[in-house]
Amino acid sequence: MKTPRSSRKAALVRDAESHPDAMIELRGVVKKFSNAAGVFTVLKGVDLTIYRGEFVSIVGKSGSGKSTLLNMVTGIDHPTDGKVVVHGTDIYTGVTESQRSNWRGKNLGIVFQFFQLLPMLTLLENVMLPMDYVDMYDFDERPQRAMELLKLVGLEKFANKLPVLVSTGQQQLAAIARAMACDPPLLVADEPTGNLDTRSADTIIQLFEQFVAQGKTIVMVTHDPSLTSRTHRNLIISDGELIDEAVSRSLPQLRHRHMLEFTKLAEKRVYQPHETILSRNQNVDHFFMIRQGEVDVVLQQKSNKEYVISRIGAGEFFGEMELMRGGKSVANVRAAESPVEVLALPRAEFARVMDESPITADAVAKILQKRLEAQKIADQRVTPRD
Ligand SMILES: Nc1ncnc2c1ncn2[C@@H]1O[C@H](COP(=O)(O)OP(=O)(O)OP(=O)(O)O)[C@@H](O)[C@H]1O
Ligand SMILES: [Mg+2]
Repeated sequence: MKTPRSSRKAALVRDAESHPDAMIELRGVVKKFSNAAGVFTVLKGVDLTIYRGEFVSIVGKSGSGKSTLLNMVTGIDHPTDGKVVVHGTDIYTGVTESQRSNWRGKNLGIVFQFFQLLPMLTLLENVMLPMDYVDMYDFDERPQRAMELLKLVGLEKFANKLPVLVSTGQQQLAAIARAMACDPPLLVADEPTGNLDTRSADTIIQLFEQFVAQGKTIVMVTHDPSLTSRTHRNLIISDGELIDEAVSRSLPQLRHRHMLEFTKLAEKRVYQPHETILSRNQNVDHFFMIRQGEVDVVLQQKSNKEYVISRIGAGEFFGEMELMRGGKSVANVRAAESPVEVLALPRAEFARVMDESPITADAVAKILQKRLEAQKIADQRVTPRD
C-alpha cells in the first residue's frame, strides 16, 4: 500500500534545548564499532558546540576518531549513544535514513580528501547533481547556477571537461563548487587539502575564508599546521576524546596524551566579576588555565593603592610563577568585569608533566621570565625609589 504523502514527510524537529547561535551541538556522543576482536569505542562521550560563522579545524593522530566525529555531524554514520543537533535539528531522533539524506543535501556541503566526483560526468554536471538530488532551484536555472559556482572557484573554462582532464587541485575546487551547490550554511571537510600541493591547498583555504566571511560555518579536519593557524578555533582529538581548548591553547607544545590528562585532571571553576582567585601571600597549589573571560593581575602598594600589572584572557595561564619558583602568590589575581571560567590543575600533576615534557617546561619558563621582567618594571613604578 502506498504511504500517504503527509506521513512520509520529514519528521525532522527543532531541538528544544538548541542554542540559538549554535550550528553544531554534540552531547555525550559515543561511537562503538564491533569486529571479531570485540567492541571498540572510537568516540568516548564527545561534548562540543560550534557556533554559526566559525571556521574550525580538527587535528589528531591517525585513528584518533576525526573522520568518525565528522560522520556523526554529517549523518553519514550514526552515534551509538548521545545527541547530535545540527542547525537546530536533532538529526538522529525519529528520522529515517532517507529523510536524513534529504536533509543533508539541503543543509550540508561535504568535501573529502579524494574529491569523489563522478568520472563520467563533466564538472558542470557534477555540480548540478546535488540540486537534482534534493530538487532545489528550477530545473532550467540549475546549469546557470552550476556555472556561477564553477566561476567562483575559477573553473568556468573547464565546465564541460571530465574530471580526469583537469588537475587534482582543480578537481577539488570542482568538488567544493558541488558542495556549495545548494547554498548550505555548513561545510564539512575531511582533509580537503591532504592530496594537494601547497599552492592548491592555499587556494582552497582562501576559498574557505571567503565562505566564512559570507557567514558560512566550516569544520575541517587537517594534518597541516599552516592551515590550523588560519582558523578561528583548533580542536584536538586524542584517542576518541576532545581536549579542552584552554589546555591546548595554554600549552600548545604538550603531547596530545598529556593534554588529555590535563583535560581530565583539571577542575573547572567559575569566578564572578572582580572575585579574587589568588591572594597575595597565599600558598598556590594549582596551575590555572583560562577557559573564558579575563583576569587581572594586581599589585598592591603600601598605601593600599592597587596597580593592575596585566590582564590575561582565554587560552592563557597563571599560577606558574608560584609553582615554578615554589613560593606564595606574589600578586592578587582576580576576575575582571565578566565571569571567569578556569581549569585548575593540581600542583603535583603540573610538576610531573613539566618533568616529562621539557619543551613545555621551557615555553612556560620563557613566559614566566617575561612576566617577571614586566613585574619588576611595575614594582618600580608602584614603589618609586627616592
Ligand atoms: N566502520 C568501521 N568499523 C570498524 N572500525 C572503524 C570503522 N571506522 C573507523 N573505525 C576505527 O575507528 C578508529 C578511528 O577511525 P577514524 O577514521 O575516525 O580515524 P581518523 O582520526 O580519521 O584517522 P586518519 O587520520 O587516519 O584519517 C580507527 O581505529 C578505525 O580503524
Ligand atoms: Mg580520517
